[in-house]
Amino acid sequence: MAKNNLICSLDIGTTNTRAIVGEIDRDGIMNIIGIGQSKSTGLKKGIVIDIEATVRGIADAISQAERMIGEDLDSVYIAIGGPQTALLSNKGIVAVQGELREVTGTDVDRVIAAAQVLAIPPEREVINVTPLSYIVDGYEGIKDPVGMIGVRLEADALIITGKATYLQNIRRCVERAGLEISGMIFKGLSTPFMALSPDERELGCALVDIGGGVSEVSIYMHDTLLSFASIPQGGDLITQDLAHGLRVPISQAEQIKLLYGAATAESSGSTVFKIETVGASETTEVDSVELVEYIQPRVDEIFDCIRNELIKAGFDKPPAGGVVLTGGACQLPGLTDIASKKLGANVRIYRPKQIGVTDPSFTASTAVLQFITRINPAALQKQVRSGRQSPRFFDRIKSLFAEFFG
Ligand SMILES: Nc1ncnc2c1ncn2[C@@H]1O[C@H](COP(=O)(O)OP(=O)(O)OP(=O)(O)O)[C@@H](O)[C@H]1O
Ligand SMILES: [Mg+2]
Repeated sequence: MAKNNLICSLDIGTTNTRAIVGEIDRDGIMNIIGIGQSKSTGLKKGIVIDIEATVRGIADAISQAERMIGEDLDSVYIAIGGPQTALLSNKGIVAVQGELREVTGTDVDRVIAAAQVLAIPPEREVINVTPLSYIVDGYEGIKDPVGMIGVRLEADALIITGKATYLQNIRRCVERAGLEISGMIFKGLSTPFMALSPDERELGCALVDIGGGVSEVSIYMHDTLLSFASIPQGGDLITQDLAHGLRVPISQAEQIKLLYGAATAESSGSTVFKIETVGASETTEVDSVELVEYIQPRVDEIFDCIRNELIKAGFDKPPAGGVVLTGGACQLPGLTDIASKKLGANVRIYRPKQIGVTDPSFTASTAVLQFITRINPAALQKQVRSGRQSPRFFDRIKSLFAEFFG
């Protein structure tokens, strides 16, 4: 049984599965105390295609994290992204209850519940609902209506849905690995919350998580998620291009990419190394600068797709807050130069700051923990009700929540 104040996130990526355990201290601050990582072999472009292989990956990552913290983990929050998610907005309206007509937390819960009442096709499921702003008796743009006096409370909410079968397969894998699901957190909300500054989210900014199978683009403006796209291209295609170009096995191409790969000639070294091409009896010498010709076209293509997503979201000109890259593949030398040239924007790389997870491939899994402890304690409230967390623990989280919106 896990300790009361531990929370665990699970990011089931195409290349790696990661479990991160956070311990929340008496001041409500989350510290990372456990990390588990395993190779994923059951996913293709962010989607589960092999249940058993995915279950093994989850179980491996979780048992590594368990060994690190010396405790068993029984429940996880799952990071959800992928190509089969969609955004909708909807409005909820309720009459303020109570004799004094003062808006309470219960009224807020009711109005958010009312905003979820919309016709969702049977093949889709709601992943998260996030309030964007409230209206009290016609006064718009209210971030926290609790304590205000009014008769009518309205909420504009962003509703994130996913394809039911896609979510069911993920849930099945997690449950088969012997874990309960505490909640699902949409990466388009959690990752930008940690990786972008409030100014970037306000001015307009794209966060791009370039993984192995997919590049996920979350575009923000006025502190609101405008769009989320999952482009089915990532670092693994760069490896494949290299494997075809050099005529070497995928595993060798991956090593070559990590050791010598670069997206531009300017960022590449000039190291001569030997390769064994498939079917040849002798080794061949390659200068690392030659790798650019295989790598650059794919990186160009990825950023052309990202630029299309920005245009679709209304950014014909680059967003004022720039573009932030994260995910394992953003570490390729020269990739940020191509990004700034293609997108015409300021580009920076985000790395998580917590000890032990500073590699950008840990951003999504770390952000889920940050998001839950700072922004979305409602999920934790459920655990309090089921006796998993102490009420005082929840109060501390709740006060942080009030602080954030206050
Ligand atoms: N230093 C590096 N330089 C270049 N590429 C790298 C580096 N480190 C990791 N990568 C690449 O990053 C990719 C994996 O990234 P990541 O671990 O973020 O993916 P994932 O979350 O498992 O997959 P996805 O998000 O696509 O489902 C691989 O293609 C890997 O080769
Ligand atoms: Mg990923």
